[in-house]
Amino acid sequence: MRTDIVEIKFEDMSQALRSMITYEPNGAMNMETPQELFDEVLRTSPVVRWEMGVGFFKMEDVVAVARDRHIVSCEPNSGQAMGMGSPEPLIPLHIDGDIHKHYRKLLDPLFTPPKMKLLEPTIRATADRFIDEFIADGQVEMYSAFCTPLPSTVFMQIFGLPLDDLDFLIERKNRILKNEGTTMEESERIGRAEGESLRAHLRMRLQERLSTGERHDDLIDTFIHFEVDGHQLNESEIINLMHLFTIAGLDTVTSSLSCILAWFAKHPEERRRMIDHPELLPAAVEELMRYESPVPSSGVRFVTDDCEINGVPLHKGEIVYLCWASANVDPAAFESPHTVDLAREQNRHIAFASGLHRCLGSHLARIEIVAAIDQLHRRVSDYWVTPGDEVGYEFAGVRAAHHLPLTFTAR
Ligand code: HEM
Repeated sequence: MRTDIVEIKFEDMSQALRSMITYEPNGAMNMETPQELFDEVLRTSPVVRWEMGVGFFKMEDVVAVARDRHIVSCEPNSGQAMGMGSPEPLIPLHIDGDIHKHYRKLLDPLFTPPKMKLLEPTIRATADRFIDEFIADGQVEMYSAFCTPLPSTVFMQIFGLPLDDLDFLIERKNRILKNEGTTMEESERIGRAEGESLRAHLRMRLQERLSTGERHDDLIDTFIHFEVDGHQLNESEIINLMHLFTIAGLDTVTSSLSCILAWFAKHPEERRRMIDHPELLPAAVEELMRYESPVPSSGVRFVTDDCEINGVPLHKGEIVYLCWASANVDPAAFESPHTVDLAREQNRHIAFASGLHRCLGSHLARIEIVAAIDQLHRRVSDYWVTPGDEVGYEFAGVRAAHHLPLTFTAR
């Protein structure tokens, strides 16, 4: 039996812990340096049991639970999943067991490293277009001028949706994920309504495609013509996939890029080193993904049967919360976890999750982030946080430097 399980009532938890566990975007956490909170939680309560479930924070626990077949991502009785504005479980995020494996067998080959590498020239050319728009100004709000439009534009091309849809989709995505000042229940209600409007739009775009019958080199076309083991996706599965891809593709890379650029803006010597030695950038991005962990935790998970994982008893019907971000600064898993070592050699971080639902888009995300920063560094080699202003961080399921005012030498 473990001795480090802390039993605590929800009402007795610190505001920060409560905010984390319930995904309530209520501003209770210091999102500039959340690593301090994770460090404290790891020291004081690495496993937390409260009225509704159990939260895991240590690397070895998080990894074991994420792989265990007793833990699923959709409520076993109601079949309901939460947090993404969907009336049904999203494929593959909220699906488990053999069907999940089946969907991953369809989807994994679309996002392999060699396939993603082919996108690099497009990513660099798109980055250049956005840099052109601010390079003569000497000042830029980087989140809205670069971190948002670049990954979104790239993703719309891969997806096969017209760029004119982008503002509408970003607005829907923000209203689904970011309901500052609301409770979990209110946020879910608003998210569902916005999700309905998102789906109506995606359905309209799919109908357009189906009515022309033309072939395209993009994801929507692939979804329409998918066939594995004699199974072809029906219309509702395609809409379901489009829903999840809109949320995943339009938020996570933007948020990660903003956190990493904010870090480089505050660390001029390290940035200089990357500019002089761009070959070091991929390892540096891995380290900053570890330390910044922009997607701090899994979605809600559920226990299907009584079981024990790493000595922690879990009961049927309980909720499970997994924290990737705290695992990424766990001293049992990383030497000097609070030192950002851009050349770290042993770096088995789980910023892209671990286990059955590990991120499908991680290779795309990595290539996008490295290419975007490298392209920026080739043209804007000095940048710093604009004096008199400061970086603003937000946490709404995903952590972002959503106000990123930078100054640089105009060219
Ligand atoms: C830096 C950017 C990204 C980060 C940090 C990230 C992180 C994550 C994490 C932590 C999960 C697990 C969620 C959970 O267990 O509840 C996940 C799952 C997923 N991600 Fe990403 N993601 C990123 C980019 C992307 C992109 C660009 C795509 C689109 C292709 C994508 C598609 C997915 C999908 C489909 C899943 C569900 C996988 C499954 O359930 O089998 N992600 N991601």
